[in-house]
Amino acid sequence: IIASVLKPPVKILVTGAAGQIGYAIMPMIARGKMLGPDQPVIIHMLDIPSASEASGGLKMELIDSALPLLRGVVATTDVAQACKDVNFVVMLAGFPRKEGMERKELLSKNVAIYKAQASALEQHAAPNCKILVVANPANTNALILKEFAPSIPPKNITCLTRLDHNRALGQLSERLNVHVGDVKNVIIWGNHSSTQYPDANHAIVKTEFGEKSAKELVANDTWLKGEFISTVQQRGAAIIKARKQSSSLSAASAACDHMHDWILGTPKGTWVSMGVYSDGAYGIPAGIIYSFPVTCNKGEWSIVQGLKIDEFSRAKMEATANELVEEKNLAYSCLN
Ligand code: LMR
Repeated sequence: IIASVLKPPVKILVTGAAGQIGYAIMPMIARGKMLGPDQPVIIHMLDIPSASEASGGLKMELIDSALPLLRGVVATTDVAQACKDVNFVVMLAGFPRKEGMERKELLSKNVAIYKAQASALEQHAAPNCKILVVANPANTNALILKEFAPSIPPKNITCLTRLDHNRALGQLSERLNVHVGDVKNVIIWGNHSSTQYPDANHAIVKTEFGEKSAKELVANDTWLKGEFISTVQQRGAAIIKARKQSSSLSAASAACDHMHDWILGTPKGTWVSMGVYSDGAYGIPAGIIYSFPVTCNKGEWSIVQGLKIDEFSRAKMEATANELVEEKNLAYSCLN
């Protein structure tokens, strides 16, 4: 692509950039994998003081990569400076769960962090900035951000379930021995936690005989209702067990896919899963951040409507919604 057709640069903030996911996602952003090959970027990295030396090192490496689309790097511990005029935000920063820590304690630490981030973004970010929360508990962190940044449109605050979506595509493609790129339209419903509901009922596989239902090709309801679901639900834990740290490369890759499709659009006939502010679609309570199937066009997502939901799915969708309502209540009790 020649310089004359490049768009004007945009600013993207990555919080917790010095961590593992940050290290994996930087080249994806700076090489145009996230926002497109014609979109120059200025990267803002926000880290806590104890990580600032490491983020300084990351900045050096980015400079040393001589990437033509990279038009600037700001590495800072100053929240206002980090948020200044940013158009896109990927939030990796969160308080990590330590051994022996209660769920409520983890939630309360993160709720405090996301409440503070909300005010900073509201004051300093560009109007209409688009936000992806990756750090756990991702749905509830995103909800807190939404609640405390009332001037940011709720549609602009999302959380990552594309990782689970991609995991579900991966499991189906392995099972059917097809290319992962030939499988589409799985759905992750609900929370990015072990109550999420990976749903293959509407998934489609491209074959030499045209598009086929994944469900019919698998032809094994026991697997689809059992191992398929539990493998996807437990994948994050399995990776932590194997790597002794949580998924990084796949999380970075999914965050990149999420932003890419949100901003540049989903292909015709294809949907993806995103954690978005529920408006009550599919009978899911309004006012939580819940993962739905969405299509994206011109930077706006819309929930795919009218999918048939059977009783098995309904129960699973409600269970994960209930967990999110509980998390929301817990988050509020931490704030009071
Ligand atoms: C993942 O899905 O890989 C992570 O969210 C797991 C975790 O708890 O960090």
